[in-house]
Amino acid sequence: MYAFAADPAQPKPEFYRELAQAADALTAGEPDAIANMANVAALIWQLVPELNWAGFYRLIDGELVLGPFCGKPACIRIPFGQGVCGTAAATGESQRVEDVNAFAGHIACDAASRSELVVPVRKDGRVAAVIDLDSPIVARFDAEDQAGIEALAALLAARI
Ligand code: SME
Repeated sequence: MYAFAADPAQPKPEFYRELAQAADALTAGEPDAIANMANVAALIWQLVPELNWAGFYRLIDGELVLGPFCGKPACIRIPFGQGVCGTAAATGESQRVEDVNAFAGHIACDAASRSELVVPVRKDGRVAAVIDLDSPIVARFDAEDQAGIEALAALLAARI
């Protein structure tokens, strides 16, 4: 049994440090990328409050393909450069969208989503996947959430 208990009530930098430690413990020594993404999606879903979707899209043959996630069934393929996820993959930059309805080209997988954070995972200098978090709350994600998920992405680079 795994019992991780990062407390979302603590300051976000500490919370994300503990989340990264838990992700490190879950994925250390495990070479299977799908297993690692599945456990990290579940960990984010368990510990990060106010989400309605958390998971991965993998960059395969020039398009994003749905990976392990928690939440409602989602769009399976996202063209490179399209939507929030495709923009993160194409630019290599995290996308923090306060209001998805104001993002031209946002792809609505779940009508409940109101804000979104997408962080690229780089492997050997190239985007291999993105971590996508959706929230039903406008402007749910701030710079500390972004920094925390970026640290998680850096940790996962060698494990997916
Ligand atoms: N909203 C994303 C699509 C993926 S779902 O949110 C799970 C986008 O615009 O790329």
